[in-house]
Amino acid sequence: MKIAVLPGDGIGPEIIAQARKVLGKLGLGLQMQEAPVGGAGYEASGHPLPPATLQLAKEADAILFGAVGDPRYDALERAKRPEQAILGLRKALGLFANLRPAQVHPELAGASALKAEVVAGLDILIVRELTGDIYFGQPRGIRDVEGVREGFDTMRYSEPEIRRIAKVAFEAARRRNRGGAPRVCSVDKANVLETSQLWREVVSHESVNYKDVALSHMYVDNCAMQLVREPKQFDVIVTGNMFGDILSDEASMLTGSIGMLPSAALDERGKGLYEPIHGTAPDIAGKGLANPLATILSAALMLRYSLGQPSAAGRIERAVSKVLQSGLRTADIFTAGTRKVGTAEMGDAVVAAL
Ligand code: IPM
Ligand code: MG
Repeated sequence: MKIAVLPGDGIGPEIIAQARKVLGKLGLGLQMQEAPVGGAGYEASGHPLPPATLQLAKEADAILFGAVGDPRYDALERAKRPEQAILGLRKALGLFANLRPAQVHPELAGASALKAEVVAGLDILIVRELTGDIYFGQPRGIRDVEGVREGFDTMRYSEPEIRRIAKVAFEAARRRNRGGAPRVCSVDKANVLETSQLWREVVSHESVNYKDVALSHMYVDNCAMQLVREPKQFDVIVTGNMFGDILSDEASMLTGSIGMLPSAALDERGKGLYEPIHGTAPDIAGKGLANPLATILSAALMLRYSLGQPSAAGRIERAVSKVLQSGLRTADIFTAGTRKVGTAEMGDAVVAAL
């Protein structure tokens, strides 16, 4: 099993190093090869997604990704910005289905910004479409209209794109098996946008094939509010690229820290890219403060979804729970009465728990 390891920028290399330690400890004989991406790719070869890195990613069975982005490159034209690396990988590899679970570890309910009783036991899954929408729609640009500059982008979804992500959501809802009827809430802005009108129609149509799954629809602004008001009302949320980007950041904070949440981006055949949902955290990069658990849990998802190793995935997840139970916390999840540790110490603790 070949894994392309792409650490990227900021805290990326630190957190990826911990995930590698954990994977190494499992003794599965994984072949891991690293390549630069993002700002690091730009430094190495003048492009955020160097051709050799893309090639490595294409040939691998799975990709473990850190994070990309660096304020030093904010002034670069869009095509050279670090973010283009992850957008380019998603598009080139057809990674259209983004699974972003938000689960509250019992030990961390007190670290949430919401009251513990509102989030305790929370377990929701956001299924975000990842290769369409206003992120990729054409035309786009900045143009001059009679001496006034205007920026424009195109929100666009085709029927097949909507159908395939709806299927992923319905299937995922079934598989979660949390007791009670599985539920999918499709989130859109159908009161304003044509794209959303089609979205709603196609998702509803597809739901006919999943009679055991209860489908509801919600406008995105209401969903943003409901996630804070009563997050446990949700089971699976399915939504487009842009709304999913925003709602998944919001959902992450329900769990105490964005530093805890893994994600998977899958293609039609289950090959995937695995990454923490947080970014590069330039303010703490290189200081050994970052929480490596989202990346370690992403490695677990990789074992489960792309490498056919569900029991190894479970071992990692149980090791993480054990470490949290033992009271170790990185700064982002630290609360009174627990013990603050750095990035490497947290990684070592997970290895020891394994
Ligand atoms: C994410 C990130 C990316 C996105 C950025 C880095 C392009 O915010 O994975 O959620 O917007 O999709
Ligand atoms: Mg985001």
